Amino acid sequence: MIIANTINEVRQQVLNWRQQGLKVAFVPTMGNLHQGHLTLVKTAKQHADKIVASIFVNPMQFNDANDLANYPKTMDADQQALIHEQTDLLYIPTVEQIYPKGLEQQSAVEVPTITEGLCGGNRPGHFRGVSTVVAKLFNIVQPDVACFGEKDFQQLQVIKTMVEDLSFPIEVIAVATCREQDGLAMSSRNTHLTQGERVIAPELKQCMDLVAANIAEGCNIKDELDKAKMHLTELGFKVDYLEVRREKDLQLVNKIEPGLRLFAAAYLGKPRLIDNIAIKLSK
Ligand code: PAF
Repeated sequence: MIIANTINEVRQQVLNWRQQGLKVAFVPTMGNLHQGHLTLVKTAKQHADKIVASIFVNPMQFNDANDLANYPKTMDADQQALIHEQTDLLYIPTVEQIYPKGLEQQSAVEVPTITEGLCGGNRPGHFRGVSTVVAKLFNIVQPDVACFGEKDFQQLQVIKTMVEDLSFPIEVIAVATCREQDGLAMSSRNTHLTQGERVIAPELKQCMDLVAANIAEGCNIKDELDKAKMHLTELGFKVDYLEVRREKDLQLVNKIEPGLRLFAAAYLGKPRLIDNIAIKLSK
């Protein structure tokens, strides 16, 4: 695996592959890789000849300095995992390289509407940071395809919207959420759960499955959400949001229609867990 630390190195190598007629896929990450990230790499391999991954803990998408400072860094293990998955190039830029004039002076990419609500509502500036860094990484790597997980469904839709609105010649591939055996969505944040919290954590998905099934059967959306919030609170979660939205534009709905998704964010102790699942109507 080539390790590139500069924009030029990445561009030269990708250009070289392109001149050989090879297709390039990109998997951007913030490191602390788990099976979810490695599934993105595996999926990328099905769509391209060469795989580029990046590890960059992007300060622009954090609105809590503690969160940024405490973001787990596992560079050696991450590199080994990427080598194991036969990643061809790993780009590890510095903050100074990505934001040479500092965050305040950085031109930004703002995706409207779809960034409001859900994680955008409670984390002001978060998606501005995500779309800006992803646009920048896309311009550096210039991949043919890029893979993003459905676990961060709003992020996926923000990237898709940005790619369409700004005419990036890149195909965005959505990859299904990777789950632990007990259903808990894989996340770097899970490592912050205490043993006791880890036992309770899968209840979030179980509760969501029940809500989705009841709504699919025709039960009232608001009643189901209210019951579920109460149940999760009793279990020890602090529910941030539990909402049903339209998959394609993330607008809130209060009546049943095809193409809906259930979105949840809840604190369990310190970690904030997020998850989302499709509501599959029975007829
Ligand atoms: O999902 C992530 O890890 C990050 O938001 C991303 C897409 C790498 C941008 O920093």
